[in-house]
Amino acid sequence: MKKIVVTGGAGFIGSHLTAELVVQGYAVVVLDDFSTASDENITSLRQKENVELVQGSITDLPRLQKLFEGVDYVFHQAAMARVPRSIEDPLTVNQVNITGTLNVLLAARDNSVKKVVFASSSSVYGDTSVLPQREDLMANPLSPYALTKLTGEYYCTIFRQIYGLATVCLRYFNVYGPGQSPHSQYAMVIPAFIDRVARNLPPVIHGDGEQSRDFTFIQDVVQANILAAKSTAEGIYNIGSGRSITINQLAEKIIKLMQKDLKPIHEKGRLGDVKHALADITKAKSFGYEPEWSLENGLKETITAMSRKAR
Ligand SMILES: NC(=O)c1ccc[n+]([C@@H]2O[C@H](COP(=O)([O-])OP(=O)(O)OC[C@H]3O[C@@H](n4cnc5c(N)ncnc54)[C@H](O)[C@@H]3O)[C@@H](O)[C@H]2O)c1
Repeated sequence: MKKIVVTGGAGFIGSHLTAELVVQGYAVVVLDDFSTASDENITSLRQKENVELVQGSITDLPRLQKLFEGVDYVFHQAAMARVPRSIEDPLTVNQVNITGTLNVLLAARDNSVKKVVFASSSSVYGDTSVLPQREDLMANPLSPYALTKLTGEYYCTIFRQIYGLATVCLRYFNVYGPGQSPHSQYAMVIPAFIDRVARNLPPVIHGDGEQSRDFTFIQDVVQANILAAKSTAEGIYNIGSGRSITINQLAEKIIKLMQKDLKPIHEKGRLGDVKHALADITKAKSFGYEPEWSLENGLKETITAMSRKAR
């Protein structure tokens, strides 16, 4: 049985990925410091067969060196994953996202891991005059968070070139789905909107709402990770849906799907937010990536899961 480590495996994306890897017959070690992991994810991972849950930090290199012994693949999802957090505390975010990623690569290199799949972000593009965004566009990070992801990509490339460690970087475009918390101060837009609409409160939009995003359903991101690991793909790949929608349209869609009569309210725009994001996913199709979830179906699934949990 192949042995896998998922860093940040108790988080939103990591826990879905871990669940699918187990279904596909892999033994998974989850390394997470539980800093933003939900209790629900931690409990459900503890109950799974073939999952070993380890509490620890990617900033602890000796720990990683031991943990990666005999490991075939590493899915590196752990990060402080929010733009506003990185603006408030760039130093800590730098330590976790950059030094932590360097540690993961060093431990992977020293233990002859077959491949590292790195969770990068569409935020590395910043504001571009060209849409959709292709991987060869010049990066233009607008926040410390985006810069840490870009640096992680460069480290992956350098480890490939210098040490021969196989690495692949997936630039996720706004991932959403069941299990994403609406309650954190840094909640993502879809769970935050659904949560408010369910409570008959108007969604709160930052800025004029004309900013647009490419929303990607969690199961498509999970498939992308596994395909990228199994294939010979190396380098940088966009993982999005290939379609975008404005935040105003998104709010309208969620209100309609939830059959409510509400009007969104607007607050000040957020620092570090990009104006538009839309993925060109042609390159990822070369390793078999094909998003299967429409926004409509993904939202329905997310709304159902969130209302089930609220009951
Ligand atoms: N969700 C998105 O839309 C999105 C978009 C682009 C990129 N990403 C990237 O995907 C990855 C997963 O994102 P997510 O949405 O699941 O976020 P998340 O916050 O739910 O998951 C991150 C996990 O990493 C853990 N973690 C944080 N610091 C750690 C440390 N020092 N050591 C070990 N574990 C640590 C957290 O406890 C959490 O469980 C992140 O790297 C994020 O930057 C996410």
